[in-house]
Amino acid sequence: ERTSLWGGRFAGGPAEALARLSVSVQFDWRLAPYDIAASRAHARVLAAAGLLDPDELGRMLAALDDLEAACASGEFRPTVDDEDVHTALERGLLERLGALGGKLRAGRSRNDQVATDLRMYLRDHARGVAGRLVELADALVEQAERHVDTPAPGMTHVQHAQPVSFGHWLLAHVQPLLRDLDRLRDWDARAAISPLGSGALAGSSLPLDPAAVAHELGFRAPAPNSMDAVADRDFVAEFLFVTALIGVHLSRLGEEVVLWTSTEFGWAELDDAFATGSSIMPQKKNADIAELARGKSGRLVGGLVAVLTMLKGLPLTYDRDMQEDKEPAFDAVDTLQLLLPALAGMISTMTVRVDRLVAAAPVGFSLATEVADWLVRRGVPFRDAHEITGRLVALCAARECELEDVTDDDLKTVSEHLDPSVREVLSVRSALAARTTFGSTGPGPVAEQLATVQHRLDSW
Ligand code: ARG
Repeated sequence: ERTSLWGGRFAGGPAEALARLSVSVQFDWRLAPYDIAASRAHARVLAAAGLLDPDELGRMLAALDDLEAACASGEFRPTVDDEDVHTALERGLLERLGALGGKLRAGRSRNDQVATDLRMYLRDHARGVAGRLVELADALVEQAERHVDTPAPGMTHVQHAQPVSFGHWLLAHVQPLLRDLDRLRDWDARAAISPLGSGALAGSSLPLDPAAVAHELGFRAPAPNSMDAVADRDFVAEFLFVTALIGVHLSRLGEEVVLWTSTEFGWAELDDAFATGSSIMPQKKNADIAELARGKSGRLVGGLVAVLTMLKGLPLTYDRDMQEDKEPAFDAVDTLQLLLPALAGMISTMTVRVDRLVAAAPVGFSLATEVADWLVRRGVPFRDAHEITGRLVALCAARECELEDVTDDDLKTVSEHLDPSVREVLSVRSALAARTTFGSTGPGPVAEQLATVQHRLDSW
């Protein structure tokens, strides 16, 4: 018995090498529940068109329910002879219904089916990914809440720059995740178009109802162009861009955790349950989760590049090349579903070493900008203020002392504009407290930001 979906015009079966190359069921089998849901909608439309009588529709729907349960339990599985998920499911239907099972293919092609199934799968799983993203953001926010008033050495070029609130720093990792959540939501609005009814490429001569199918499957509307509907993989490429960017954000967070937990920084310690040891060095405690976050961004970016490269120059409409869209998309979902909960656990159980942060905050003349701003408030042009403060820093560097250690005479020697009252700006606390404008790192704006972020996450 032939189980393939084609063959009438072929003299024999496919060569073994072709079959092995062509088969996709080992990875597209996860589309089965969506394919079955789409089949139900299609069966109803065929019945409404008078192409299935009420009794046939009833038997068809019952068989689809039964097949769905058998797939879920693992009782029905694809065999080596099933080319793809659609082939396997048609076999399951024929086993249950005999010739009636063959009626469901009317007005439908694997080209519109697979595009529909993949849209449904990704829309569904994008919501799952968003949920895990919210959990990671919550973990960061919880830590940030504890550290609104914890000073830290803010950095540019990994050099001490200006003191910041560590809570502000943690929230700086939340903001990109909020944008990613927005991106997933925006993406969904564009992905919510149903290709079913487009057939192979030209639509159908049968009186189908693409709008009814779209509605039943949770899509916003049917596709307005049958050729575009089966050729379009924007929704895959765009999904992979969003997941690649999420990967990049997670890798930057991961890299910082690696730095923070190093002996040299010593700003944070990971919980034992979220750190790993070494097989030879008994003392080791490594941030493998953070490193895997960094490393796995490679495959997420790679998936995007693979799909864009596959699509480039493809003639309309469907080409078999497009079968290559699924593995990167599935891998992106799987990768984030593994990574995000691990990162959330690592962040929420991490102990922040406040003493180390407080000690590090003023290191590296990080209050020099405060001196320059103090001069500006006294009417000195910033260009001169910068120069004067630079001379003060050079003096301290030569003497290996801190800014607040210079004598009143030293101040006068560096510039006539400097006097002992400059010392009032030479504390990390005052530097932070002075930053009161919207979005700044002062305790006021950080508390405000925290409240806004919490509100957005709560209402997600
Ligand atoms: N397995 C195929 C894919 O994923 C399904 C569509 C096949 N269509 C075809 N005309 N060969 O793209």
